[in-house]
Amino acid sequence: MSLDIVILAAGQGTRMRSSLPKVLHPVAGKPMLGHVIGTGRQLSPQGIHVVIGHGADEVRERLAADDLNFVLQSEQLGTGHAVAQALPALSAERVLILYGDVPLIEVETLRRLLEKVGPEQIALLTVDLNDPTGYGRIIRDENGVVKAIVEHKDATPAQRQICEGNTGILAVPGKRLADWLGRLSNDNAQGEYYLTDVIAMAVQDGLVVATEQPDDAMEVQGANDRIQLADLERHYQQRAARRLMAQGVTLRDPSRFDVRGEVTVGRDVLIDINVILEGRVVIEEGVEIGPNCVIKNSILRKGAVVRANSHLEGAEMGEGSDCGPFARLRPGTILEAKAHVGNFVELKNARMGAGAKAGHLSYLGDAEIGARTNIGAGTITCNYDGANKHRTVLGEDVFIGSNSALVAPVTLGKGATTGAGSTITADVPADSLAVGRARQRNIEGWKRPKKQP
Ligand code: UD1
Ligand code: CA
Repeated sequence: MSLDIVILAAGQGTRMRSSLPKVLHPVAGKPMLGHVIGTGRQLSPQGIHVVIGHGADEVRERLAADDLNFVLQSEQLGTGHAVAQALPALSAERVLILYGDVPLIEVETLRRLLEKVGPEQIALLTVDLNDPTGYGRIIRDENGVVKAIVEHKDATPAQRQICEGNTGILAVPGKRLADWLGRLSNDNAQGEYYLTDVIAMAVQDGLVVATEQPDDAMEVQGANDRIQLADLERHYQQRAARRLMAQGVTLRDPSRFDVRGEVTVGRDVLIDINVILEGRVVIEEGVEIGPNCVIKNSILRKGAVVRANSHLEGAEMGEGSDCGPFARLRPGTILEAKAHVGNFVELKNARMGAGAKAGHLSYLGDAEIGARTNIGAGTITCNYDGANKHRTVLGEDVFIGSNSALVAPVTLGKGATTGAGSTITADVPADSLAVGRARQRNIEGWKRPKKQP
C-alpha cells in the first residue's frame, strides 16, 4: 500500500527563546526535523510533505532535498489545518502524520503502526504517561474501544484522570482524509482546527481505531524548550552508546561520549572518556581512542591508536598507525600503515608513507612523505607564498634534521638528509646531505657587554 508522510513543522516554539526556528534546533548535531525526515525516508514513502510556517524560508533552505515537498501554512490555525495544507499533494492509500519537533521516533515503531492502518482502519500511536497534563486524552468505551480524543483544555475533570495520552502520530486511510479535514470546526477551548477530531469522525463513519505504543516513551517526546532538548540529546546519546557497545566497543564511560553523525565500528574498539565523533566515522577492529578526542569524517584502520586530546578531520589513519597526544590531522591527511605522528604535529593535505615518523612540533602541509622518512622536531613545510600553495615531496628514507624549513615547491630524493636548522629552498638529490644555514663562527675571548654604572 502506498504511503504519503506529512510532517508538521510550522509552529513557533516560543519557549525555545531563539531566533532559530524550533525544528532546526539540533539533536546530535542535526536539526530535529532532519531526524524525522531521515526516519520517514526509511519507510520508502511516495511523498514526504513538510508543513512549514514560522521561519519557513530558513527551514526550507537548510533541509531542501529533491524528495521533499514543502507546504506553507501561513497562519497556524491548528494541527488539522496544518495537515489540510498538504491535502492537494496527497494521493497515497495511507497517510502518516509526524512532527518536526519529535525527533527520536523509531522506524520500527512506525512500521508496527503502519501495519494497523487500512481502508477501514485508523492507526493511532498512544502513550501511557505518569503526568498526562497538556496531552490529548484517549477516550475508550467500557470495552476499551477508542471513541475519540479530547484535548486537555477541553477535557472534563473525569477525562483528565485518563493517563493514556495522544502522541499526535497517526496513520489514516488517504481517501477519507479530505472529507474529515473539511468537516473540522474550531469551536473548542483553543479556537483551533484539531487534527484529533478526525478520530471521532472516523468512529462515526464506522471505522475502527487501532492503537499502538512506542517501546520507549522518549520516542514520542517533543522538545518545547531547551531543557527538553537536552533530555532528548542525552537520550539519543545513550541509545547511540548502547548500539556501539552491542557491536563490541568498550566505552570507558557511555555517559561521556557523543556521536553527531554516523559511525561504523569493528570489534574490540576502545574509546576513553569525552570523545566526540562527528559526520561519517569509520573505526575498524582494535582501534584505541584516548580521552578528549574529536574525530570528524575520518577513517581509522585496524589497530590505529589516537592518543589523548587529538583532533582529526577528514583524515585516514592506516593500520597500526598512531597519533597524539595533541595531534591535529586536518582534511586530506593520510597516514599509511604504522606511520607515527606525535605531539603538537599538524598535518593538512599530507600523506605519510608506511612507517614514516613526525614525532614532535611540526607543520606538514601539502606534503608527500615517503616510507620510513623521519621528520625532526620543529620541521615546517613552508607551503604558502602568500598567494598560492605549493607541494613538498620527500622520498623514502629521508631524514629531516630538527627545525628545518622546507620552502615549497621542493623535492628531496630518496635517502636525502638535511642538517638541523636548515632552510631548504632548492631540491636535494637522493642520498645527499643538504645544509642550508650559516656556518658557525666562534669568536674566542669574547667579552659580554657590561651594565653601565
Ligand atoms: C497535540 C495534540 C495532542 C497531543 C500533543 C502531543 C492536537 C489538536 N493535539 O497537542 O492531542 O497530545 O500534540 O504533543 O493535535 N503545528 C503546526 N501548525 C499548526 C499547529 C501545530 O505545524 O497550526 C505543529 C506544531 O509545530 C507542533 C505540532 O504541530 O510541532 C503540535 O502542535 P501543538 O500546538 O504543540 O499541539 P499540542 O497542543 O501539543
Ligand atoms: Ca505540543
